[in-house]
Amino acid sequence: MRIVVFGAGSLGSLLGGLLAREHRVTLVGRDPHVSAIRENGLRISGAIEARVSPNATTDGTDLAADLVLVTVKSYDTAEAARTLSTGEFGAVLSLQNGIGNEERLARDLDSPVLAGTASYGAALEKPSEVACTGVGRVVLGSPEGGESALAARVGEAVAGAGVETAVARDMPRRLWEKCAVNAGINPVTALAGTENGAILAEPAWPIAREAARETARVARENGVALSEETAVGALRRVTSATRENTSSMAQDLGKGRRTEIDAINGAVVEHARREVPTNALLVGLVKTWENSRGLR
Ligand code: PAF
Repeated sequence: MRIVVFGAGSLGSLLGGLLAREHRVTLVGRDPHVSAIRENGLRISGAIEARVSPNATTDGTDLAADLVLVTVKSYDTAEAARTLSTGEFGAVLSLQNGIGNEERLARDLDSPVLAGTASYGAALEKPSEVACTGVGRVVLGSPEGGESALAARVGEAVAGAGVETAVARDMPRRLWEKCAVNAGINPVTALAGTENGAILAEPAWPIAREAARETARVARENGVALSEETAVGALRRVTSATRENTSSMAQDLGKGRRTEIDAINGAVVEHARREVPTNALLVGLVKTWENSRGLR
């Protein structure tokens, strides 16, 4: 299968590298990573060891493939959709944080769009070298939920490259559950400047827990059956499993970069029918930080 990975950051490079063991992969990313991959190939280290030679390019226009994996930050989805609309793809799979990425991609693209989550841990060590910091799973399916023959075919191809994969019929619930986890962990660890595990204790835990509870309420207001117990249970489980990790948002703040607050807590506020004070407060604080750095 010909596969394009649009967004060769840490997760995109890891998944693209794993898929390149079986498929013809093109990574779309930035220099110096792209030039280094062209020169040396891509090295995967850590929990999985491999050396592969995918194609790599900085120009994502006019590409053609059976499948494109979108792994860019959620605030780059609109630009990714515009660029990908110049190409031809059998299917588009979003593996991004937050709510609304699939809808945004579908607006510009003729190809069918699938929703997915990826729980592999990845870190870009240096150009052309990515570390697998935890073997996770790719779960994918129709963004509306239900059976999808296309999702089953894509799932088979991804699994065929040795990537842990599951095809799910309840992607809307899974996306909102992941959003609840990110809504609790990401802004709290970013603003407090801590690793994930620190939020399991007072005084951070009640804040993170309330952000996840509000997210579950908003999911239900939007027709998605996610209980507060399930959301808080997932938050506790993922936080414990990643206790030593620095969340993506904490990394973004640490490096002075824009965050994905709009697609996570911002999406909760946007979709809410009733007040969601904890999410609104977290959005306000993170955006204040972004404004002070001129990142918006
Ligand atoms: O965004 C992240 O960092 C990750 O989704 C998670 C699960 C919070 C782990 O750090």
